Amino acid sequence: MKHASIPNNWSPTSWQSFEASQQPTYKNSEALESVLAELGQLPPIVTSWEVESLKKELARAQNGDAFVLQGGDCSENFEECRSEIIVQKLKILLQMSLIMIMGMEKPIVRIGRMAGQYAKPRSENMESRGGVSLPSYRGDLINRPPFKAEDREPDAKLMLRGYERAALTLNFVRSLIDGGFADLHHPENWDLKFASKSPMASEYHKLVDSVTTSLGFFESVTGKSIYAQRIEFYVSHEGLHLPYEQAQTRFLSHRDGWYNLSTHFPWIGMRTADVRGAHIEYFRGLANPIGVKIGCDFSEKKIQALIKALNPDSEPGRLTFITRFGSEQIEEHLPRVIKAVKKIDADVLWICDPMHGNTEMTAKGYKTRHFDRILSELRSAFRIHRDSGSYLGGVHLELTGENVTECIGGARGLKEADLARAYKSQVDPRLNYEQAIEIAMLIARRLRAQD
Ligand code: PEP
Ligand code: CO
Repeated sequence: MKHASIPNNWSPTSWQSFEASQQPTYKNSEALESVLAELGQLPPIVTSWEVESLKKELARAQNGDAFVLQGGDCSENFEECRSEIIVQKLKILLQMSLIMIMGMEKPIVRIGRMAGQYAKPRSENMESRGGVSLPSYRGDLINRPPFKAEDREPDAKLMLRGYERAALTLNFVRSLIDGGFADLHHPENWDLKFASKSPMASEYHKLVDSVTTSLGFFESVTGKSIYAQRIEFYVSHEGLHLPYEQAQTRFLSHRDGWYNLSTHFPWIGMRTADVRGAHIEYFRGLANPIGVKIGCDFSEKKIQALIKALNPDSEPGRLTFITRFGSEQIEEHLPRVIKAVKKIDADVLWICDPMHGNTEMTAKGYKTRHFDRILSELRSAFRIHRDSGSYLGGVHLELTGENVTECIGGARGLKEADLARAYKSQVDPRLNYEQAIEIAMLIARRLRAQD
């Protein structure tokens, strides 16, 4: 499949003449230039071969022949670039994909929100505490969380540290996968110690047994192995920090296109999706598959303008709309957004993000999400797409393989009072292991019901 042509008047720097929101201001511009020059010289984190192969997978999902599982932290921390945490994240995504495979005779496309998810949009540029105002924490790629002037000052060198950690993370993930860790014949590799006593454990193990039995049955009857030695695993992050993204954008003459090789699948956040803004300008010239978060205030005109800017040639797999309305608003907004796309005969891959429209603050100041609302938005998304004659081709989740207490509800019935016990996120609340498995089971059931 050939990617679409390079648009007119575009270059990796053309975004610089547009209004760029959510960007840090670096005091030392020489240090910034030298970091960007170094980043531009370092080898890429992913290859265009992988990027094109993901685009094909996404085209299949857009067509109804695959389902995407995209998940990971709201924001990765440099400190958490550790083997155990990476392994747990991979395990939970593999377990979920195994459960989802049971729900459908279609491949699951696995995409981690990882190996580069280090920059965060913030609603306020400044944070004030006790009469002191400092720049907001914008993710480890930009500054540091402690409320001290020196920590909150954007530091260009952090981009190099982020690049290195992204590479370390993906290197480890690739080795695990190549070494057979992800082999579907051995799901026992992915068991998490603390999860054996979970209310979800027995249902999960029953399911795993039936998957391995059917795999074995199929393979002995046909004499063929269903899965080759390795599965595919892709990575994604929000392409927020434009100088960082630009530094890793390369022209590949053998493909005649520009690729952002810092990740397979960069997406545009809801706050930076202004059609006349710098992010859309930057993204429109990339050959990568790209996503855009779609929220309640996106008008029909905006939806259609995004498609025209980002996928004028209607390349399959190129453009994903990741909708995030909230459990109460989805009924009003998803049908009209689907209509807006159909009205111009366009096609996108639809993914539901049931997390970001359902965030709230508790009286004690914890950012949380109710599990029931997450489930409800997801259920509505399946139903609305079916009723509108379109296909929900994936889900986008904030989750962790750790035993955190950040979202309320789920099989163990976490309450508001439980949040303090293991609340680790610096930004958005994530589903913990059990809650993530429960979501996967719901999706598996839904997908089966749709057939
Ligand atoms: C996110 O995905 O963490 C995020 C900030 O999402 P959105 O742009 O949808 O608000
Ligand atoms: Co988030």
